[in-house]
Amino acid sequence: MVTISRKSHFNAAHRLYRKDWSDQKNENIFGKCSNPYFHGHNYELIVHVTGDVDPETGYVMDMKILKDLIKAEVEDKMDHKNLNEEVQEFQSKIPTAENIAIVIYDLLKPHMNPRHKLAVTLYETPRNYVSYSG
Ligand code: NI
Repeated sequence: MVTISRKSHFNAAHRLYRKDWSDQKNENIFGKCSNPYFHGHNYELIVHVTGDVDPETGYVMDMKILKDLIKAEVEDKMDHKNLNEEVQEFQSKIPTAENIAIVIYDLLKPHMNPRHKLAVTLYETPRNYVSYSG
């Protein structure tokens, strides 16, 4: 099996908070990411696809198809957006890096070859990143 990976990037704003908690408790738990006026991150996304190399093409998957899929399903939906306000999935989910990674995985997975293993790594800052593989 071979893993191919495609890097992508989007900017987005968010606020981590629970409506049922006081502002003070939100700040205690979520720190600066709980700022009521929102704030942005430069998200770096890496999508990994693992599978057998097709003997005909020599590819696991055509990178152009993967690139277009990430653009349509992730970048067009999240880039320059307020995740809390504008992305439907985060109406009911706090847009932590963990939850964003899960949402991205769930957006991409239905379009993938079922025999391929999908994993996503999401950097919220250059030092903080999460990975999800289903
Ligand atoms: Ni934040």
